[in-house]
Amino acid sequence: MSAWKRTSECGSVTEKLLDKEVVLNGWVAHRRDHGGLIFIDLRDRSGIVQLVFNADISKESHNLAESLRSEFVLSVTGIVVARTKEQVNDKMPTGKIEIQIQKITILNPSKALPFSLDEDDIDEELRLKYRYLDLRRPVMQHRLAFRSMLLFTMREFFVQNGFFEVETPILTKNTPGGAREFLVPSRTYPGSFYALPQSPQIYKQLLMASGIERYFQIARCFRDEDLRADRQPEFTQLDIEMSFIEEHDVRSLIEAMLGHIFKKLFTIDLVLPLPIFTYDYVFALFGSDKPDLRYELPITDLTDAFKEVKLNFLETVVLQGGRIGALHIQNKKFTRSELEGWVEKSKHLGAKGLLYIHFAADGSIESPVSKFLPANFFDTVQSVIKDLKQGDTLFVVAGAYKEAWSTLGKLRIAFAQELNLIKPNTLHFCWIVNFPLLEWDETRKAWSSAHHPFTQPAEGWDKTTPDQMKAQAYDLVCNGSEVGGGSIRIHDKQMQHKIFELLGLSEKEIQEKFGFFLEAQEYGFPPSGGIALGLDRLIMILSNTASIREVIAFPKTQRGYDAMMHSPTPVAPQALKECGVMCIPSAKEGASDKK
Ligand code: AMO
Repeated sequence: MSAWKRTSECGSVTEKLLDKEVVLNGWVAHRRDHGGLIFIDLRDRSGIVQLVFNADISKESHNLAESLRSEFVLSVTGIVVARTKEQVNDKMPTGKIEIQIQKITILNPSKALPFSLDEDDIDEELRLKYRYLDLRRPVMQHRLAFRSMLLFTMREFFVQNGFFEVETPILTKNTPGGAREFLVPSRTYPGSFYALPQSPQIYKQLLMASGIERYFQIARCFRDEDLRADRQPEFTQLDIEMSFIEEHDVRSLIEAMLGHIFKKLFTIDLVLPLPIFTYDYVFALFGSDKPDLRYELPITDLTDAFKEVKLNFLETVVLQGGRIGALHIQNKKFTRSELEGWVEKSKHLGAKGLLYIHFAADGSIESPVSKFLPANFFDTVQSVIKDLKQGDTLFVVAGAYKEAWSTLGKLRIAFAQELNLIKPNTLHFCWIVNFPLLEWDETRKAWSSAHHPFTQPAEGWDKTTPDQMKAQAYDLVCNGSEVGGGSIRIHDKQMQHKIFELLGLSEKEIQEKFGFFLEAQEYGFPPSGGIALGLDRLIMILSNTASIREVIAFPKTQRGYDAMMHSPTPVAPQALKECGVMCIPSAKEGASDKK
């Protein structure tokens, strides 16, 4: 065994090892020089332990310790001794002991770090550039440890429940619809491209055709879409598919898995079953298909309450089939500049305008339209919003239902944040069901799948118009974030073909893109259903972090750039030539994150 090889981990040396000799490896976290005595906090993954270099015990080690700087990697040999009473630190697991060093080997020195690992507020760009250093910080180590435990606990659950973990290809086929895909040029087939999978959707359905019956995978997925705090171009799904099941079987399975995780990792009994709401219900109340239920602040439809209000712009909206919705803020009078700020914000969120109405304590109404409001307006609104009181303020948006309610939904979130309405340390899971099957895509001027084209329509779909068709799809939502989505699948070839047609695909496109899949449906294709949970999002919520990048070891920046490796990069002309690819000169400008 090498002389430097450790006998213990730093965080595990306690009084149980008193008077014993230990060999420890780790990084210099802090150094305090008191002349004849030098103290070093040595850190490894398990924690920190205090080393003492006493010139009287080992002159040579003490001399070497004088040269130590932060983040040097050491191997030390020493005796575990008790700290003096005044030095005991009860907050540290190793706080009752220290190590009297006899021998030290510097395994590697370190340059001064670009940031201190003790800081909390480090520039994110710098953190991502030196991610390997950032990951040394205990908070990041805890997140990675939690992620690892969570994945292990999930795997344990699925294997125990008869699921096979099957890996599916990363080099796959470009398919229309959904997010934009990352393309990989082929050298063997110049001019042709693989696509990286947005999800293993088709493969998992084909695994059901193979008789696997119960599949799961911790799957890497790739989507070339605009990034946000909870989106990355590559992310990880817990992907599941089951044969011969119904919607509620998938929900029960996920609930049982969540129960298992909460029990094992947090020793908490999650309250099950989770509440189920229809898409129409949550959209009407919260203007979103992923409502944050940690606070109320519902949207109220005030279209009828405004019937007697003779205001041109409102009358036009209603005549055109639009609606008037409002958020009710209790017992709050906003200042003029606050009100202007909210009007401005609503415009950024997509509203043409935002009307405010304050019911003052003296019974008067303060609003830019107060003189148009009838004398009984307070009573009229109160008959709809039962808990309306003098002193409250309404924020009103009028417009086409979808747009107006979406804006109100976003304003609802902004008000909740601004007014501190969000209950801290709460997890509010729920299921959203009965989604629309299709969405109108204005750029393509065609219908596209709200979930994906393999989703089974709800009964009666072929007797109604595309805008009315519902899907056997379901989402798992937590604290306003879509944590998972899934559906029952189409297993009938004719129905699948009709859906492709409905999505505007020509017969040629259907055969080129999905011919193999439709053929598979001719060979005894079982009914199936499944779901995928966004693991990064789930871990982000469970670790109470504000960005998905905090729970991914090596994430991309908000612009999809790898700040550490400096990727993407141009490639050598020869490599392009081999793949039959030519770059347009203007495409060379590249990402602005590049330094
Ligand atoms: P869906 O597209 O809803 O369904 O994706 C499932 C879940 O994956 C997460 N997710 C993301 N997480 C981080 N970054 C992204 N860019 C990103 N995009 C999605 C979300 C989402 O709920 N194949 C289907 C599942 C199925 O039908 O079984 C699918 O991928 O949490």
